[in-house]
Amino acid sequence: MEAKRKEPRKALRIKVISMGNAEVGKSCIIKRYCEKRFVPKYLATIGIDYGVTKVQVRDREIKVNIFDMAGHPFFYEVRNEFYKDTQGVILVYDVGLKESFDALDSWLAEMKQELGPHGNMENIVFVVCANKVDCTKHRSVDESEGRLWAESRGFLYFETSAQTGEGINEMFQTFYSAIVDLCDNGGKRPMASMSVSFTKEQADTIRRIRSSKDSWDMLGVKPGATRDEVNKAYRKLAVLLHPDKCMAPGSEDAFKAVVNARTALLKNIK
Ligand code: GTP
Ligand code: MG
Repeated sequence: MEAKRKEPRKALRIKVISMGNAEVGKSCIIKRYCEKRFVPKYLATIGIDYGVTKVQVRDREIKVNIFDMAGHPFFYEVRNEFYKDTQGVILVYDVGLKESFDALDSWLAEMKQELGPHGNMENIVFVVCANKVDCTKHRSVDESEGRLWAESRGFLYFETSAQTGEGINEMFQTFYSAIVDLCDNGGKRPMASMSVSFTKEQADTIRRIRSSKDSWDMLGVKPGATRDEVNKAYRKLAVLLHPDKCMAPGSEDAFKAVVNARTALLKNIK
């Protein structure tokens, strides 16, 4: 019997799109990777920029069709036909602009709406780029907050700077490699990449603690609560967030904040 000869594998063709508010750096991230350069002057993308690049992932050659979208609301109607048949999404925000981070949910919503009721966002690789990390002075969204948002949705997360190049190659390599894994898995996101190492309750609790207005609010007790109530609430949170048990980004800071809140409250309760 003749041994089966290994066919050379055809180049894989994939489609990726960029999403995020205007001016967060989508085009610059792509330019940094494809052309190894950075343009400080802002040239807003008009509608869509389209480009093709070839990349190598492990032993595979991949042809990437990149659709770089304009973030300005004005171009909504131009963008909306480009969401379908996408294998990968680069979601970008500016770490110095909180509203660009808060807008990520509405970008996902826009895509979901355009894909319609039969569209499936589960089998798309998303990478979140926390961009402009070179501007350390104005940072308003810290790493754990961004990472928590991304990882609780099963998305990749990278800190990037199109200006210095930090994180860019690593981000694209991991992103393309995850897309190849998805294609090799019949277009479904592999189970391993879906697993999140923390619970929704943990993620929600960390977010709630971050945005709490005082120590009472942080522990989730009414102002004027008794020592017993404070201790009970504290113990519940401590079990949920203890850094030995909780893998969620930001759990250590949240745990410390809870410890401090309890100490502060107990000092003033007889
Ligand atoms: P739209 O096409 O309008 O949606 O914007 P965009 O997201 O494509 O933004 P673009 O890449 O054009 O960058 C916007 C501005 O931010 C430009 O002035 C860039 O030079 C600047 N910029 C992009 N990335 C970085 C970065 O990592 N660091 C710094 N300091 N500036 C950056
Ligand atoms: Mg652009």
